[in-house]
Amino acid sequence: MKLPYAESYKIKMVEPIRKSTREERESWIHDADYNLFNLKSEHVFVDLLTDSGTGAMSDRQWSAMMLGDESYAGATSYFKLKAAIKDITGFDYYLPTHQGRAAENVLFSVLVEEGNVIPGNAHFDTTKGHIEFRKASALDCTIDEAYDTTLDHPFKGNVDLDKLKLALKEIPGEKIPFIILTITCNTAGGQPVSMGNIKAVSKLAKKHNIPIIFDAARFAENAYFIKTREKGYEDKSVRDIVREMFSHADAMTMSSKKDAIVNMGGFIGLRSEELYKKASVFNILFEGYVTYGGMSGRDMNALAQGLYEGTEFAYLESRIGQVGYLGQLLKDYGIPVQYPFGGHAVFVDAKRFLTQVPKEEYIAQTLAVELYIEAGVRGVEIGTLLADRDPITRENRFPKMESLRLAIPRRTYTNNHMAYIAAGLKNVFDRRDDVKRGLKIVSEAPIMRHFTVELEKAD
Ligand code: F0G
Repeated sequence: MKLPYAESYKIKMVEPIRKSTREERESWIHDADYNLFNLKSEHVFVDLLTDSGTGAMSDRQWSAMMLGDESYAGATSYFKLKAAIKDITGFDYYLPTHQGRAAENVLFSVLVEEGNVIPGNAHFDTTKGHIEFRKASALDCTIDEAYDTTLDHPFKGNVDLDKLKLALKEIPGEKIPFIILTITCNTAGGQPVSMGNIKAVSKLAKKHNIPIIFDAARFAENAYFIKTREKGYEDKSVRDIVREMFSHADAMTMSSKKDAIVNMGGFIGLRSEELYKKASVFNILFEGYVTYGGMSGRDMNALAQGLYEGTEFAYLESRIGQVGYLGQLLKDYGIPVQYPFGGHAVFVDAKRFLTQVPKEEYIAQTLAVELYIEAGVRGVEIGTLLADRDPITRENRFPKMESLRLAIPRRTYTNNHMAYIAAGLKNVFDRRDDVKRGLKIVSEAPIMRHFTVELEKAD
């Protein structure tokens, strides 16, 4: 018998969580204006809002924190992290930042100008936010297959080369400061980009003399999928694949809160000294001096260790195995989910789940609220609320996919929690025909509204 995967760690410390009653949850979500970000975390039983900063650090990471060097300049922790980044990614230069969007802010301050167009594969919302904030635009060139949740495709994060070629042909070169590849592609459902596609995009970019930047928050999960799905990579180590992936990038922005399994942190990886110098100015302005950015020494130490742990095959196998375990339970219940399952999350296809709720009433948000009321499980909407309004017309943008994302924190929950989540969603699925109306907005912010939006029941 083939031995199944099992976690490559055992549990040394636990944090109690508490179940609540349906009546309590109905009142809490009402008081939270039907926005799950407004809930107190103690009112959540299983928290799948995000896999960002919510993972469990190892004993090695905690002990590395005790050795943190908190010197303002030239700390040993800075150099420890520099060596780890060079070893794992190959980048010679780096700038620490307090998280991923801060890395975007610093780097885009150098590179993005008004009127620019930045092609890529379904840019993440903060990436898009930082582009649009600078009066530039993000051009989604993801393959169409990504938006058909029923279709089995191993690399739904891939760039459609024809779409990209057309963009490079029609848009003047000086208007495209870079191409951005998000690995894995969060917006499409934690879907990977193949090495073949990375190479092809890189070739095209070189031909047009345009740099490539990786949004690398989940680079290790992407490498795991390349190893397990792409021909020719089955015998390569995850770390070798990671290095090969990054060899095609000119720079990277990193939210370390994901695949590097720390609670806070980020960085920019760079190949060019010139760009490093330019970005340093903004790093000092927005984040902190170049040898700490937005991070304390102890956090840089934990991150250096986390980069190694996050790229271990045995860990990735159990991590992605757990996401797949939840996905399969849901699929077996007949619940419509993005297939294949993503690396960090299962994306539930809300349009196929709640077929009666009109798209103007925030279908995925309605489903997220229903799941919370049913089971105290907090997921997050990746749909019309997140897609925000068009910055010019101010009209609602209706994205191709309307998803409820169930993001699984790393090394945090057990498979019993997965079974609990699946049972909760199955109960909602069984009464889905009773959910006919969704939500309406009472108030919203001018940009990135989903975090603070206030909603009420539509009727
Ligand atoms: N890029 C991607 C692909 C992300 O998923 C995120 C964050 C960021 C950049 C920004 O990083 O949060 O450290 O500032 N994603 C989180 C999520 C918030 O829930 O998916 P950050």
